[in-house]
Amino acid sequence: MAATETRVAPELDGHGFVAYTEGLTKRYPPTVTALAEVSFAVRPGEFVAVLGPSGAGKTTLFRCLTGLTRPDHGTVNVAGRDIWQSPCELRLARRELALIFQQFNLIRRLSALENVLVGRLAHVPAWRVISRSFTRADRQLALGCLDTVGLLDRAGTRADEPVASLDPESSATVLESLRSAVSAGVAVVASLHQVHLARAYADRIVALRDGRIVEDTPASRLDAKTIEQIYERNGERTDP
Ligand SMILES: Nc1ncnc2c1ncn2[C@@H]1O[C@H](COP(=O)(O)OP(=O)(O)OP(=O)(O)O)[C@@H](O)[C@H]1O
Ligand SMILES: [Mg+2]
Repeated sequence: MAATETRVAPELDGHGFVAYTEGLTKRYPPTVTALAEVSFAVRPGEFVAVLGPSGAGKTTLFRCLTGLTRPDHGTVNVAGRDIWQSPCELRLARRELALIFQQFNLIRRLSALENVLVGRLAHVPAWRVISRSFTRADRQLALGCLDTVGLLDRAGTRADEPVASLDPESSATVLESLRSAVSAGVAVVASLHQVHLARAYADRIVALRDGRIVEDTPASRLDAKTIEQIYERNGERTDP
């Protein structure tokens, strides 16, 4: 499973979307248009799988959606905030979202508990971050999160194997956890390379190709012909 996921807490804008983009365009001169006029919205309690061949723009979309890459044009709104309006808006929006990188990007010298506490950084004053002195409430919250995913007994263990790829059983465990979050009203947007996992776990499929959305459909309606078209390149089919 390619594990780039965005989780957004259910704070709504006026249209019931927890996150949306409008006319998102990102170019890498001189020749690459990674995203071209992408408009995309997600509601709370929705699991969207983003599919597309290599170079389609999936990672660029995630990076723009979470404020890591500034688009050339277009807007990104998360939890009712226009994230490129000011650094403050971006910081406040980041309290409501999480990005899980494909390589996890865990901090190796920190323990599992401290890696979870990193998720509280946008909520706490800078001195607490520097001195690593999180409140008891934050620690309890982080321990609860580790317990949820069955890692409570590893709280004090350093994250020394962050890039191990997920076997099929672990992929299923992660996707089940994400489904539980979705049931609790969280929005999940995930890049999945395995189409069968997208069909099994996602509510909706959004397909990108050459930086454009070429399909946006309920997962139950994704048929073999559409899958072929999503991955077809210059008349040839590329494997998902
Ligand atoms: N920093 C960068 N500089 C130049 N070009 C880039 C950069 N990042 C991405 N690109 C280009 O933008 C396009 C989209 O890349 P992106 O990484 O978003 O695709 P992707 O769908 O995530 O692909 P993959 O499935 O291989 O991860 C590609 O042509 C890629 O080469
Ligand atoms: Mg990618």
